[in-house]
Amino acid sequence: MKNILVTGGLGFIGSETVVCLIEEGYTPIIIDNLYNSKKAVLPRIKEITGVLPKFYENDVTDEDALRKIFKENKIDGVIHFAGYKAVGESVQKPLEYYSNNLISTLKLVKVMKEFGVKNLIFSSSATVYGLPKRVPVTEEDELNEATNPYGETKFMIERILGDISKADPSFNVALLRYFNPIGGHPSGLLGEDPNGIPNNLLPYISQVAIGKLDHLNIFGDDYDTPDGTGVRDYIHVVDLASGHVATLKKLETNPGLVIYNLGTGKGTSVLEMVKAYEKANNVKIPYEIKPRRAGDIAANYANVDKAKRELGWVAKYDIVQACLDAYNFQKKNPDGIK
Ligand code: UD1
Repeated sequence: MKNILVTGGLGFIGSETVVCLIEEGYTPIIIDNLYNSKKAVLPRIKEITGVLPKFYENDVTDEDALRKIFKENKIDGVIHFAGYKAVGESVQKPLEYYSNNLISTLKLVKVMKEFGVKNLIFSSSATVYGLPKRVPVTEEDELNEATNPYGETKFMIERILGDISKADPSFNVALLRYFNPIGGHPSGLLGEDPNGIPNNLLPYISQVAIGKLDHLNIFGDDYDTPDGTGVRDYIHVVDLASGHVATLKKLETNPGLVIYNLGTGKGTSVLEMVKAYEKANNVKIPYEIKPRRAGDIAANYANVDKAKRELGWVAKYDIVQACLDAYNFQKKNPDGIK
């Protein structure tokens, strides 16, 4: 495999993966509609790697645009990041979430089949485990009802791709269940750049760190966890990116459908994260304890044995490195990527 189509390749995880692909000798081709990303990421990828990847400013739901890309490039595999991803917004706009996330995936697979492209990596999420019966979760554990339409789209797309691979065993699909991606490129050129007030913990902390937001709200300190705050598995985005390259190598063995957790295997509480961020960056993160956030669970972290065994991949960076890189990005881009 050489030419890899990356949908959503200018986003937080997509852009980092594009960098990793280039560094590993692949040729990424990006399709992104800039809904949740900036065109200015493209020259930054070049600044890091020396390579300016081919970029199509199109929507993945646009079947004709997809056909044009597959005609113009001999695509060997696809990594599908593009999709709506805000949990809260998905509750307000379920129709938009279901149609965009499902239709883009269906059209993408349709066009892949037309062009005989048989390798697909899908960005799934630990959210498919819903409220897990036990942690750490393994890929074999049962999936539980999602608490929001965003999570449902991940669950549904997993099912759809599973059925497609079952019907055509030569169609290789990897479902990668990401835990909580954080951090940024060590150069400070790429990182998490949410629109408006961040929903996720790390970008929120980073904006408090530079004084853009006044304090962090910690959603609940009465969970059944060691310090009462929520526990998650935070994975450095550079590790997550390398997990995709390891998965591409696995797809070359024609495995059919494969599923991997991409996490560190280690749980960290909100309070531990605040302390780690303060210590790593020598900053103060004021916080207030607030009621639990609807839909949140006490703890979720990954059993990562399968990825280690079958992909030879493990996360290399810890949360300290991620806190350093997140702060570095935030300082260099106080108002996001311009
Ligand atoms: C959320 C989504 C998940 C999605 C992931 C993407 C929910 C229920 N889940 O995961 O589906 O795949 O983002 O990154 O929203 N927290 C605070 N204060 C804040 C923000 C967060 O205390 O301002 C706490 C949360 O209560 C949680 C932890 O920090 O315990 C992590 O939250 P977050 O970064 O939003 O990720 P998840 O909720 O795990």
